[in-house]
Amino acid sequence: MTMQGKSRYAEVFAASRKDPEAFWSEAAKAIDWTKAPSKAFDANQGVYGRWFPDGELNACFNAVDRHVATRGTQTAIIYDSPVTGSQRRITYRELQGEVEALGAVLQDQGVAKGDTVIVYMPMIPEAVVAMLACARIGAVHSVVFGGFAAKELATRIEDAKPKLILAASCGIEPNRVVAYKPLLDEAIELSSVKPQSVVLFQRPQAEAAMKPGRDHDWAQAVAAAKASGKKAPCVPMKATDPLYVLYTSGTTGKPKGVVRDTGGYCVALAWSMRGLYDIQPGEVFWTASDVGWVVGHSYIVYGPLINGSTTVVYEGKPVGTPDPGAFWRVIAETGAKALFTAPTALRAIKKEDPKAEYLAKYDLSGFRALFLAGERADPDTVKWAEDILKVPVIDHWWQTETGWAIAGNPVGLGLLPVKHGSPTVPMPGYDVQIVDEGGKPVGPNTMGSIVIKLPLPPGNLPTLWHADDRFRESYLTMFPGYYNTSDAGFVDEDGYLFIMGRTDDIINVAGHRLSTGGMEEVLASHPDVAECAVIGIKDSLKGEQPCGFVVLKAGVNRSPLEIEKEIVGLVRDKIGPVAAFKIAITVNRLPKTRSGKILRGTMKKIADGDSWSMPATIDDPAVLDEIAASLKSKGIAG
Ligand code: COA
Ligand code: AMP
Repeated sequence: MTMQGKSRYAEVFAASRKDPEAFWSEAAKAIDWTKAPSKAFDANQGVYGRWFPDGELNACFNAVDRHVATRGTQTAIIYDSPVTGSQRRITYRELQGEVEALGAVLQDQGVAKGDTVIVYMPMIPEAVVAMLACARIGAVHSVVFGGFAAKELATRIEDAKPKLILAASCGIEPNRVVAYKPLLDEAIELSSVKPQSVVLFQRPQAEAAMKPGRDHDWAQAVAAAKASGKKAPCVPMKATDPLYVLYTSGTTGKPKGVVRDTGGYCVALAWSMRGLYDIQPGEVFWTASDVGWVVGHSYIVYGPLINGSTTVVYEGKPVGTPDPGAFWRVIAETGAKALFTAPTALRAIKKEDPKAEYLAKYDLSGFRALFLAGERADPDTVKWAEDILKVPVIDHWWQTETGWAIAGNPVGLGLLPVKHGSPTVPMPGYDVQIVDEGGKPVGPNTMGSIVIKLPLPPGNLPTLWHADDRFRESYLTMFPGYYNTSDAGFVDEDGYLFIMGRTDDIINVAGHRLSTGGMEEVLASHPDVAECAVIGIKDSLKGEQPCGFVVLKAGVNRSPLEIEKEIVGLVRDKIGPVAAFKIAITVNRLPKTRSGKILRGTMKKIADGDSWSMPATIDDPAVLDEIAASLKSKGIAG
């Protein structure tokens, strides 16, 4: 297969590489600046350079206010919530009213430009309003996913040092109401940093008790701001000022605070909405993710709104709310032109409705494309989706750090031939290379580390929150001059990328990024555990699921089953239900090299039933048989 046809991709990509300054200066015209940037890039600022160094703008103005004059009555947000049985539409004009009022509430609480605000909210429109209100007044938001436990929230409070926390009283999972307020109170208790105030959105499903003096009722405060005519204006920000910090799993229990700048991000998102997703202003774009993830930041909130499109806030699941037709219903009812979700969601639908009988109930005639990301899109799932939907199914690859796709199939420039298993080609601005362990480029079809030549394009992280050195160490040191993606893969003879897995301890469970190192820290904290290893093993629905091996301390003579149960509970308690940690296995010893390194890779191959060879450096080969036997005893293939 060759890249041919009518796509403008080759020409546009070449232009971005030949003259990045001209390319991104042109792209910057899609944004309203209070001070237009005189140049696109300054190599001398920041860790590897900064985008639009002298530009000034406000992200909320670009996402909301600038559309009000021309599309004030257009729906900005469609809220669809099968878990509460409600739907709601909010126009651009109404959205402006909400963010002006909440912005004023934040200012009344003393939040000023440069302060941080943590947002701990479920998939309700108020979460979007919260983020935009922060952006409006120049506060740096940090959204924490609702599926994390109090300790994870506490770690983020500790690092982000928020002046204020915006939260809701609860989230709603199909099988339970998740009361957020007790988790929030516990997190604040655990953290040495205490926010001055909490503004809490009460939901009827679980009204929370308020702490006098610290907690304020969201609805009352917003109503009071509106009644007194208080409206927060958009504060001009430097393009290089942070818009948000989003924490993501690192190789230890301490998450990394990915910093997003304001100007480069707005420009990159504006480009991607047209060039990659082919969505026009006024059209509906639905991203079925969560505002707690990067995908939600970029393509539930900022991307579609900056583009003047309509976004969908969906509070539900692909299956079980109430059936596997949920996604097709939402597409039909909202008129979404494209859906962006994780492959795991499609696998869930396919499992329950393999013949797509639910699809036949809905009119999807206006639907143009399905985009997948968050984990590898396995060819079987892609093929199934193509067969049933009869639209292009597009895998694209990105990371929290990059903020938008590193590689994809640019529908807006003209679709390139799809190859199952590949997220297609690098997006403009990305110089993606495959290198060996010594950093030497390898040829086509040879596996290696995937790296991006510096500078990273607009939208990508300039650094980690107050941690330039950790940023350098984590991403820039291993291959000097390059950003290390920590993904491994290859490029084929046509220049198509294939992403095969991580080179670090990160695993991907149901499209959620998790650190096995972080889980090991939790396992090791159990008083009966001497040592442990956590690996990600294949799962037909979630892609991977974590599996923990523990060696008990000498002299412990409690029932291993009981300890395993406690360990499962401990991970849920310390990291959260999202870790989906359900398998703990007690073993007598772990397989190690003669120098004491645990052979996690070999253990994974055994668990996945993949072929494996005996590592030459193994200390005692018999341990691997013991591991295989213990996996079998738990019903895991091996
Ligand atoms: N708040 C509280 N708990 C949450 C939560 C949230 N926002 N999101 C998930 N959880 C809980 C779930 O209820 C579940 O708890 P349980 O162990 O009591 O059942 C646990 O975390 C694991 O969740 P998940 O791995 O998502 O599994 P699931 O069984 O709830 O759903 C899928 C399975 C495949 C339907 C679901 O994972 C899905 O739709 N994933 C999409 C992934 C995605 O959007 N990724 C973002 C990148 S694009
Ligand atoms: P996150 O930061 O949560 O978006 O997770 C990023 C990681 O998810 C990447 O480094 C990859 O390992 C994986 N990932 C995301 N999208 C894809 C994709 N399209 N194909 C393969 N892996 C992906």
